[in-house]
This record gives sequence, structure tokens and C-alpha cells, in this order.
Amino acid sequence: MAILAKTPPMGFNTWNTFGPDINEQMVLEMADVMAEKGYRDAGYKYVVIDDCWSLRERDENGNLVADPEKFPHGMKYVGDYIHGKGLKFGMYSCAGIRTCAGYPASFDHEYQDARSFASWGVDFLKYDFCYFPSFANCQHRYLTMAQALRASGRDILFSACNWGVQEPWNWMRSVGAHMYRSTGDIVDNFASTSHIMHSQMGNFNANASGCFNDMDMLTVGMAGQGFVGREDCNNYAEYETQFAFWCFTAAPLMMGADLRKVSEEYRTLLQHKELIRLNQDPECRPPYKVREDNGYTVFIRHLADGEFAIGVFNLHQDPRHAEITFAELGVPVNAGVKLALTDVITGETIAPKKDDLFVAVPGHSCKIYRARFVRDRKRY
Ligand code: GAL
Repeated sequence: MAILAKTPPMGFNTWNTFGPDINEQMVLEMADVMAEKGYRDAGYKYVVIDDCWSLRERDENGNLVADPEKFPHGMKYVGDYIHGKGLKFGMYSCAGIRTCAGYPASFDHEYQDARSFASWGVDFLKYDFCYFPSFANCQHRYLTMAQALRASGRDILFSACNWGVQEPWNWMRSVGAHMYRSTGDIVDNFASTSHIMHSQMGNFNANASGCFNDMDMLTVGMAGQGFVGREDCNNYAEYETQFAFWCFTAAPLMMGADLRKVSEEYRTLLQHKELIRLNQDPECRPPYKVREDNGYTVFIRHLADGEFAIGVFNLHQDPRHAEITFAELGVPVNAGVKLALTDVITGETIAPKKDDLFVAVPGHSCKIYRARFVRDRKRY
């Protein structure tokens, strides 16, 4: 069996745009767009069908059944189609007795459902937490589904979604999940995005290869449309900040916008090569919060090949001027090295420096640099 989630999982999920209103044609079209419009080649692999795909009741043998009106050819057909596009197939169930929208869920049906998913060619299971019986043990039920998936005979990435209940960063990796939702549901405005960002800023230490901190699906490019779309939706800078934060912190990148309709500027943002390279850095180290100051936050993150990233996030509405001394990043002036910096978003380079960096960060924006050590001839 393969080792899954070596780097943060990337894909598309139906919930943000479509909510309960899903069907086969839309899912197949999304797979087409992912293959044809550069998403697959940028690294996005999983096409995930969220809640509301099944009939309201199991069949006489206790099996989950795809709603034949929404998915007339059944789920194996959908999986085959997605695989034919060089992509992977994701589905959804829940650890409780019903899904959040009231469909049958996998409590006490873990092994049976895992076998159904495997027989449909499923490669990814998002596993929610609604209607979870109060007498049951949450950690044990996530363990049981992790085991059921492993026993199914198929490599199925386990995306656990319990919204941060019982501090999943302390145990989801151990029970076998490949990603764990650490937050409640995102909606498409900056209040929601920044609330999620704040809630996780000091909480990334468990985020590493094999199991990643999932801050929910991206709303980048939704532009107010769709199920979690809002009138006060993010503007370009705010979407860029969301995408950059998810990339900087090595969060899973699950797109939620209708990819058939996303504008060119957001397609370009979602496929930003250097941001995705940062997200997928093979060393998979979590970020370290250096300082929170007057409304902005400074992080570093060690990267492969001796490089590191510097992130300055300004969640305030007003601009901030940040002075970052290299000493606070662990590189004092007498270190005998300078830092060569590249702006990850714009591609601009800054000549090697050794003491500090002044950055002007507009409201709701960020600056991200990739830093490389360069020997300083003048020693102390
Ligand atoms: C929520 C979950 C959402 C979505 C929804 C479906 O609990 O956090 O991401 O899956 O259920 O009903």
C-alpha cells in the first residue's frame, strides 16, 4: 500500500459552491476542467463529492446507495471517469448516525461502508462529525474508520472532519487520519477567513508529512457565488492572503469555487507556481510564529535545501509597516551570512542583506519571501 499525504493533499470539493445541490454531470465537468485548465498539472488531484450524494435510507442489505436521480450511473462510473482524467476520486460520510444534512452515515457501519467506497474506486474519504451519539468515543470512532479504510484493500486518504473537537491535533495523526479539520466551516468573506487564520496561528506544530492541519476548503475565486458565498465576499487581496496563508502553513489545498466559472485572475492565483511549491515543500515542516505585533504576524518556515520562508500577514484593514530584524529570525548581524530574498508572490528579488527588512503590508494582505543564506565576506 502507498504512503498517502506525504505533502498536503490538493483537490476540489463540492460543498462550498454546491452545498446539497450536486449531480453527476457537474462532478464530471469539474474533472474535465481540472484536467484541461491546468489544475491537475499544478498539483490538484482529488475531486471530492461532499454531503447529499446518497438516498435517504440504506438498502435492504444495509448498504449506502447513491441517489439515482443525482448520480444515474452510480458511483463506480463517476470514479472511473475521474480516474480516466488522471485524477483521484473523493467521497464523504460521517462518524455519526446521520450526515450533517441528514443522510445515513457510517456509525456502526464503518467496515461495510469502507468496502462500498473501495468497490467504487474511492481514493479519499472526508469523514464528518454530525449526529455523533453522546455515549460513543470520538477518538475510537475515527480510529475504527481509519482501520476500516486500511482493511478495505484500497489506498484511501482519510480526511477527518471533526471541526477541532477534542483538539484533534493531539491524536488524529496517531489514530490514522491524513488530515484533520481544525476549525468550523468557512464562508466566503474575510471575517471568516481571518477568524480561521487567528484560531490556528499558534497551532501548527502537529502539521507535518502524513497528517495535515485542514483549515477548511478555500473560497478563493468564489466571488460571492455559491452555497457559502456571501455578499461581502473577499476581494482579490483577501483571496490572495487566504491562498498564501494556506500555502505558507502547509495546509491542504481543497478548492471550493466553481472551476468552470472561475475568472482568469483567480485561476492564475489558484495555480500560482511558487506558492504551491511552498505549500508542497518536501521537508513538510510546520511554520513557527516569531511575533505578533500591532495587528501583523511574522512567521518563518524552514524549507528543503537549507532555505526558509518568511511570512508577514496583516489581518488589519489598515496598512502596517513591519521592521523584521534578521536576529529575531535566528540570524544575528555577526552570523557571517546574508540573506538573499525572493518575493514569492511577485517573483522580485532583493540583493543579499544582513540586518533587517522593512515591509509595507497593505490591509488584509501579506508578504512572503523565500530566503537563502549567502556567505558574507566581511566577518566580525
Ligand atoms: C459540515 C462540514 C462541511 C460540510 C457539511 C456538509 O459539518 O464541516 O465542510 O461537509 O458538514 O453537510
